[in-house]
Amino acid sequence: MGLVSAKEMLETARKEGYAVGQFNINNLEWTKAILQAAEDAKSPVILGVSEGAAKYMTGFSTVVGMVKGMIENLNISVPVAIHLDHGTYEGAKKCIEAGFSSVMFDGSHYDIEENIAKTKDIVAYAKERGISVEAEVGSIGGEEDGVVGAGEVADPKECKMIADLGVTMLAAGIGNIHGAYPDNWQGLRLDVLKEIQDITGKMPLVLHGGTGIPDQMVRDAITLGVSKINVNTECQWVFAEKTREYIEAGKDKVGKGFDPRKLLAPGTKAVYDKTIEKMTLFGSVNKA
Ligand code: 13P
Repeated sequence: MGLVSAKEMLETARKEGYAVGQFNINNLEWTKAILQAAEDAKSPVILGVSEGAAKYMTGFSTVVGMVKGMIENLNISVPVAIHLDHGTYEGAKKCIEAGFSSVMFDGSHYDIEENIAKTKDIVAYAKERGISVEAEVGSIGGEEDGVVGAGEVADPKECKMIADLGVTMLAAGIGNIHGAYPDNWQGLRLDVLKEIQDITGKMPLVLHGGTGIPDQMVRDAITLGVSKINVNTECQWVFAEKTREYIEAGKDKVGKGFDPRKLLAPGTKAVYDKTIEKMTLFGSVNKA
């Protein structure tokens, strides 16, 4: 199937009661690991790309070229979306022009009127090109690539206003944050999630900050309409851990163990394993 917008995969997930994982990519190794995991698990997948990560990879069109090449050369048959994560207004348009199949416009830091006006614009631009759009209400806490969110709890009425603009999926702050949760974290506001689900109907809802949420809370969120879950930090942790173990065991000093293809292999395998683990938790295995 290859590169598609996220619309159909999320509407099906919403209807059938599971969630599709968005796994953020940073380089070739991660992209390869996540695509291979999706293919082996027969799961749809969304590759998340922040503007910072795209810059690191030298630009949006590099990402598109790399992902398209891998879909072809690895014979990836499951649906794959390349999705801009927490995009700016200008970034979202540039991504669409570069060939992304899905974008998030994050207007959560604007007041609601400006968020509505800008989201509306992006929806119109994306729709005529068959691109799916994620919007956000109530910023997600923590920091991601320099984008700092205060960790608000969204107002369900504002969620409804944004949902009605024709977006494909909606991210709403419900006490979730990017990165590790503090020890005194109170958990997701599932009561607010329920209100948002009740008011937005069949709209697929997006849960950011997938790292470190207890499994049962993830399952509960899925039953309340969450159809897309974003995971980034957990993959970074396991990649770093396995790479450190390799170096600390002195393996880079044995034979050609310094070859980056060998050096990065344990971390890459760890990202593959983590992706399969999350897809299993989200219920998307064998849904492609
Ligand atoms: P984590 O880094 O907490 O997994 O969150 C990822 C995310 O929400 C990307 O938008």
